[in-house]
Amino acid sequence: MAVERTLSIIKPDATRRNLTGAVNKCFEDAGLRIVAQKRIQLSRAQAEGFYEVHKERPFYGDLCDFMTSGPVVVQVLEGDDAIAKNREVMGATNPDDAAEGTIRKLFAENIEANSVHGSDSAENAAIEIKYFFEDSEIVG
Ligand code: CMP
Repeated sequence: MAVERTLSIIKPDATRRNLTGAVNKCFEDAGLRIVAQKRIQLSRAQAEGFYEVHKERPFYGDLCDFMTSGPVVVQVLEGDDAIAKNREVMGATNPDDAAEGTIRKLFAENIEANSVHGSDSAENAAIEIKYFFEDSEIVG
């Protein structure tokens, strides 16, 4: 098993409901270490750039509205198989499909306001971590 890093975002629906600590407990209970973390307000340009890959999707505009509707917590999680493990802990994108005990089953409001984002591959994790963090801000 390789030690990996992945980008996580605690989304505005979760920060609004004061769930940052509850979400972080799920990560830490699963053995993921929070090696960088900051609470920020995304600009429209930052949200659009981050979700550029979804630009042609019908939900892109609404998603960018939502992601700029309040603070987010961007974080780097580290651990064995962190990318897959984080996706397991998060659960399916749509909370209706998410397994019991996952973050999205526990906390998500709907497919858009789904409480957390996590990188889906090693390649995207590297790109997404660089989008928000300098190397010097990540302390493992
Ligand atoms: P995330 O993991 O951040 O990656 C893209 C996001 O788009 C996803 O979580 C959801 O919040 C959102 N999303 C994906 N599919 C849909 C959809 N069908 N309708 C609305 N939002 C969606």
